[in-house]
Amino acid sequence: MKTATAIEVRDLRKTYQVRDGGSWRGKTREITALDGISFTVPSGEIAGFIGPNGAGKSTAIKILSGILRPTSGIVRVGNLVPWENRIAHVARIGVVFGQRTQLWWDLSVAEGLALLRDIYSVEPERFKRNRDRLAEALDLNGIMDQSVRQLSLGQRMRAEIAAALIHDPDVVILDEPTIGLDAPSKLAVRAFVRDLRRERGTTVLLTTHDMHDIEALADRVIVIGHGRILADSPFEALQATTLSERILEADFTGPPPELFLPDGAVETERGTRSVTITFDPQRLPAPALVAHLSTFPDLGDLRIGRPAIEEIITRFYADHAS
Ligand SMILES: Nc1ncnc2c1ncn2[C@@H]1O[C@H](COP(=O)(O)OP(=O)(O)OP(=O)(O)O)[C@@H](O)[C@H]1O
Ligand SMILES: [Mg+2]
Repeated sequence: MKTATAIEVRDLRKTYQVRDGGSWRGKTREITALDGISFTVPSGEIAGFIGPNGAGKSTAIKILSGILRPTSGIVRVGNLVPWENRIAHVARIGVVFGQRTQLWWDLSVAEGLALLRDIYSVEPERFKRNRDRLAEALDLNGIMDQSVRQLSLGQRMRAEIAAALIHDPDVVILDEPTIGLDAPSKLAVRAFVRDLRRERGTTVLLTTHDMHDIEALADRVIVIGHGRILADSPFEALQATTLSERILEADFTGPPPELFLPDGAVETERGTRSVTITFDPQRLPAPALVAHLSTFPDLGDLRIGRPAIEEIITRFYADHAS
């Protein structure tokens, strides 16, 4: 059953007990992985869940998947509490952990899918339909009878995604689904996730360190750091509030001259025939900067753009580091 709110997380807290120095006799110490996070994901939305290493993303995802109990807080996924209604819950969600396999190493892809059919009691008709659709969309037909251990990373990841979706889950949780994939495989996974949402209205929570995944897919970005939510907004809003700067690249027909830039602009890089300038359009509108540069006779092409997404996120993390 679909609900208007697919995922609800309120005041979620998780502390791990670890033994100091790794010794089983040593004193224990607490690590707060989640320090009271709250967010909701409406049905049919693709939410990016990002944050630096150790921020608490995988911990949250393990709790949402039902494999970890929180210390406290409320979590509902389609009205079920993951760790309390485990069986009903796993039948409705699909999870991909890019860092480790959910499939059985010694089984073939086809056998693994058939085993999942039995685990989730997927009716034979529906199973066949889903398997054929997924095999086609994820290009699995050539590798169906290979054992998982023989697959390349990209092949395995596509098989993992098929395995996570074989039972038509309403909510899909992807923890770094594109990690280690080559560029064409990343594009294929992104296209697949986009189609899944468009055709089936599937809700997706996506964790990734590849900001191009976020740019390509996410309706909204939830940023987590040190176990707390730092931002929860449409991607463009994050971009606008974090870095309003623009980048101008100017090519010259010879070695670039001294530019005597007006206030609001700084030279950030100088090549043999080009200069990169970072400027604040609030203080120095682009036309004024271009007019200034146009006074140099050796000027060639000009390009103006926003900083790269990596830059924006790095800056955002740095601004919120404590
Ligand atoms: N089983 C565990 N026992 C003790 N501490 C843990 C355990 N799992 C995670 N942690 C700690 O909890 C914090 C959050 O870890 P988590 O794996 O959730 O981060 P993450 O956001 O997924 O990071 P990454 O981007 O590196 O995958 C880290 O400080 C980590 O060391
Ligand atoms: Mg992680």
